[in-house]
Amino acid sequence: MGTNIPSNRALAQNGGTDSVMCADRSRFTFRQQWFDEVIRADWERHTQHLRGQKLQVLEIGCFEGASTTWILDNLMHDPGSTLISIDTFEGGMEHNQDSDNAAKYGLASLEDRFRANVARCEHVGKLEVLKARSDDALVDLRNRHAVFDFVYIDASHVAIDVLHDAVTSWPMLKVHGTMVFDDYTWKGFLEDCYNPRIAIQAFLHCAAPELKSERVESQIWVTKVPNRTNPTPNSDPEVYYWDENAGLKL
Ligand SMILES: C[S@@+](CC[C@H](N)C(=O)[O-])C[C@H]1O[C@@H](n2cnc3c(N)ncnc32)[C@H](O)[C@@H]1O
Repeated sequence: MGTNIPSNRALAQNGGTDSVMCADRSRFTFRQQWFDEVIRADWERHTQHLRGQKLQVLEIGCFEGASTTWILDNLMHDPGSTLISIDTFEGGMEHNQDSDNAAKYGLASLEDRFRANVARCEHVGKLEVLKARSDDALVDLRNRHAVFDFVYIDASHVAIDVLHDAVTSWPMLKVHGTMVFDDYTWKGFLEDCYNPRIAIQAFLHCAAPELKSERVESQIWVTKVPNRTNPTPNSDPEVYYWDENAGLKL
């Protein structure tokens, strides 16, 4: 589905100005390079239209701050811009499988690494950190009547949590705003319910009248559009109910 996100070709024709957008990243300490090696180049291309604008950004899941620091350095230049980042700093299911795994991901010092990294950003004063489970923090933000231009969903990868994060933050996303889902293609666990994919698919189906989406490598970029709800009544009595033998086994 098409969106207003500029294509790589359009950016190349624009003189490749994206290449100078990102500040030096060597001042940060990251144990994991997920964001910088896999995602950053796509974000630099796909956020060109947001540069310099007054933006309210919500990040759900920040780990050691790789995406947080990038947002602070690249999307927070307007004096009125703000970033809210939610994390428990306890790691997700994929980080907590056993003590070796927890050590590999450095969970014991995760929050300290995050705080040290964001402190090295010029615009750290625009960052509010909500140290909480996302299901609690998002309800608090709804009660605060928060609204956002950009929402990044990358906390728990358990499908029902991803679905909750999407459904709860969606009403807070402005029309023409952007929501990005990470790890659409990730399959860290064999059961569908422990991976984001089915939640992202369900959300895209359920909110279809209000969105356009584009797959960008392992991520799904969503643009919220004015509601196009236009239901077609089903007037055929032969197919008025779903075939009870089709679809999910309950
Ligand atoms: C994949 S990491 C985020 C990576 C980060 N966005 C980046 O690009 O560097 C997922 C993070 O979500 C957090 N998390 C997991 N479940 C959560 C939940 N239910 N509520 C809040 N944070 C959660 C973990 O502590 C972890 O730091």
